[in-house]
Amino acid sequence: MRPLAFLCFLVFMLHCLNAFAVEAPPLQADDCQMCHTDILATVAEFGGKHRDAVTCIECHQEHPPRGTNAIPACSLCHEPQDKDHYQVSNCLGCHKPHSPTQIDFRRASRTNEACSSCHPAQGGELFDYPSNHSILDCKDCHLEHGQYLDCLECHEPHLNGQSYADCRLCHQPHSPLKVVYLNTLDSRHCEACHPGPGKRLQQTVTKHGLLLCVYCHKSQHKRIPTCETCHFKPHDAGMHEQFPKCVDCHGGPHLLIN
Ligand code: HEC
Ligand code: HEC
Ligand code: HEC
Ligand code: HEC
Ligand code: HEC
Ligand code: HEC
Ligand code: HEC
Ligand code: HEC
Ligand code: HEC
Ligand code: HEC
Ligand code: HEC
Ligand code: HEC
Repeated sequence: MRPLAFLCFLVFMLHCLNAFAVEAPPLQADDCQMCHTDILATVAEFGGKHRDAVTCIECHQEHPPRGTNAIPACSLCHEPQDKDHYQVSNCLGCHKPHSPTQIDFRRASRTNEACSSCHPAQGGELFDYPSNHSILDCKDCHLEHGQYLDCLECHEPHLNGQSYADCRLCHQPHSPLKVVYLNTLDSRHCEACHPGPGKRLQQTVTKHGLLLCVYCHKSQHKRIPTCETCHFKPHDAGMHEQFPKCVDCHGGPHLLIN
């Protein structure tokens, strides 16, 4: 046995004997350092508010063998009714009490409940827009607090050279199937999956060839306008009655003929 360990052992045995003999004075905050130097060092360096706002003894109110109530519940001080976050299970899955701000999600089996307790909007969005992302865990994409993974860590792009910023032109991470975009989107992102309309628009000699896909297919994927949305009925009424379909004469919206 190393001398220090032996000394500690002696002090401890004395302490135990005391407990059985005359009523020994209860442990004082200063006593801990005699035997738990490693924990004192951790708390001194990483304890945060558990160093500054509480003492060892406020948490560890009893000590074996005299008392068995040695380990406090977090709820002793972080009362569940104060915050949604204090109602989640397995606090120790993420927090180490002696270094409470060094949070390591990777030890937690599932993080959704705890993350959503502070970020209800994101948790709610994943729930309200069911997709395969809804069955992932927050920590699958958020490896550390405040950071996130690039889509391209898990997916191939639709088009060579598409970046994370490009993905975000159409997809939201917490509702990926809801494809919405601004009406300035570059048509090559659409042509990646719909090469036909792109080719036809290049072939037409009409002014439709100058328009962006999203000028007509506005804001939301799969939205299809009618010719009348933009042109009303430009010819005389009798003609429209006789030939109700614009495309019979004009070919189609993409390979438009005039
Ligand atoms: C004389 C040495 C000694 C001193 C002083 C001492 N401890 Fe301990 N402590 C021990 C030993 C040995 C154990 C392991 C006992 C066991 O497992 O039954 C222990 C165990 C513990 C445990 C774990 C109890 C459990 O049920 O798992 C806590 C918490 C603890 N000590 C906190 C403290 C605090 C806080 C102080 C200062 C107020 C302190 N100790 C002072 C020797 C000491
Ligand atoms: C905010 C409350 C809190 C404070 C402050 C605190 N502890 Fe702890 N401590 C805990 C909890 C909770 C555990 C049980 C951890 C576990 O089960 O993983 C623990 C475990 C322990 C243990 C036994 C397990 C181990 O990690 O070796 C010892 C010994 C201990 N603490 C000593 C101390 C000492 C000494 C201090 C003061 C420097 C201190 N604690 C400050 C909450 C606290
Ligand atoms: C004896 C009271 C007490 C106990 C027990 C306790 N805490 Fe705390 N804790 C505090 C106080 C006081 C603060 C500082 C004020 C605040 O932020 O509410 C604090 C702050 C924290 C912080 C923020 C730390 C920082 O530096 O910003 C975390 C995280 C935390 N506690 C987690 C826990 C967890 C997890 C447990 C259970 C393992 C626990 N606490 C048990 C009293 C306690
Ligand atoms: C899945 C991981 C996880 C679990 C489980 C978890 N926390 Fe937290 N906790 C966090 C994260 C992340 C933060 C935010 C830290 C930051 O702001 O940098 C945090 C912050 C805190 C804070 C400081 C901020 C505040 O709002 O007071 C306290 C105290 C706290 N947690 C206590 C608890 C308690 C008590 C439990 C169990 C009832 C618990 N935590 C369970 C991850 C977790
Ligand atoms: C105790 C409350 C709390 C918990 C628990 C918590 N967070 Fe946070 N989170 C915050 C706060 C506060 C911020 C910083 C303020 C902000 O930017 O909104 C933040 C910031 C973030 C950010 C960066 C926001 C930005 O705009 O840059 C992400 C991402 C994030 N948290 C994800 C998570 C994930 C994932 C979890 C679960 C592992 C989690 N948070 C748990 C309180 C918490
Ligand atoms: C499929 C991956 C993925 C999953 C799963 C995921 N996120 Fe995110 N999250 C992201 C990405 C990517 C961003 C960054 C958005 C940006 O560019 O700002 C983000 C951003 C955030 C932000 C910052 C604010 C915002 O909305 O931009 C918070 C908070 C957040 N996520 C919380 C969560 C929570 C809580 C969960 C679990 C309930 C979760 N996330 C699940 C990928 C994911
Ligand atoms: C941690 C890995 C991961 C990250 C990061 C990630 N995803 Fe996913 N995503 C998946 C998995 C797993 C699936 C389900 C299997 C599949 O379709 O590949 C999925 C499915 C999808 C789906 C189809 C959803 C469904 O229900 O069919 C879309 C769209 C999607 N992801 C877009 C994105 C976008 C955009 C980003 C970046 C903001 C992103 N993903 C980031 C893992 C990830
Ligand atoms: C022009 C808008 C747009 C851009 C930009 C975009 N996507 Fe998509 N993405 C879609 C559409 C539309 C679907 C098909 C949805 C459907 O089937 O209803 C889709 C489907 C997906 C799917 C589901 C599997 C599949 O291939 O059908 C994944 C994964 C995906 N996108 C990831 C990404 C990633 C990663 C990026 C960035 C590199 C990205 N997307 C950029 C519009 C876009
Ligand atoms: C990842 C591939 C992908 C991307 C990128 C994509 N789409 Fe689609 N699109 C699809 C799929 C798959 C369908 C469904 C096809 C079906 O139902 O026959 C579809 C359907 C459509 C439809 C409806 C077709 C019909 O017959 O109802 C329109 C319109 C459309 N897309 C336009 C666009 C526009 C505009 C863009 C660019 C903003 C775009 N798409 C980007 C894959 C994609
Ligand atoms: C979202 C609006 C929109 C929709 C939907 C639309 N167009 Fe157009 N169209 C335009 C614009 C803008 C022009 C160019 C007008 C200009 O520059 O004067 C145009 C021009 C035309 C022209 C004249 C071409 C030329 O080069 O002068 C014809 C013919 C035409 N459209 C027919 C149609 C037909 C047929 C449909 C349905 C299949 C249709 N359009 C759907 C916006 C639209
Ligand atoms: C001038 C407006 C206009 C422009 C520009 C336009 N579209 Fe369309 N698109 C339409 C209209 C109108 C229909 C419906 C045609 C019908 O019902 O026969 C349509 C139908 C579609 C369809 C479903 C039928 C089909 O032809 O496959 C897809 C997919 C589509 N467009 C994709 C695109 C893409 C991709 C672009 C850009 C490269 C684009 N569109 C540009 C107006 C337009
Ligand atoms: C019977 C054939 C026919 C039908 C049906 C038809 N058009 Fe036309 N349209 C033409 C011809 C021919 C021209 C070119 C001569 C002209 O300017 O009148 C034309 C011209 C146009 C122009 C360009 C007008 C300008 O001022 O430059 C637009 C826009 C147009 N058509 C839209 C439509 C729409 C929308 C429909 C359906 C509601 C439609 N057309 C139905 C034959 C037709």
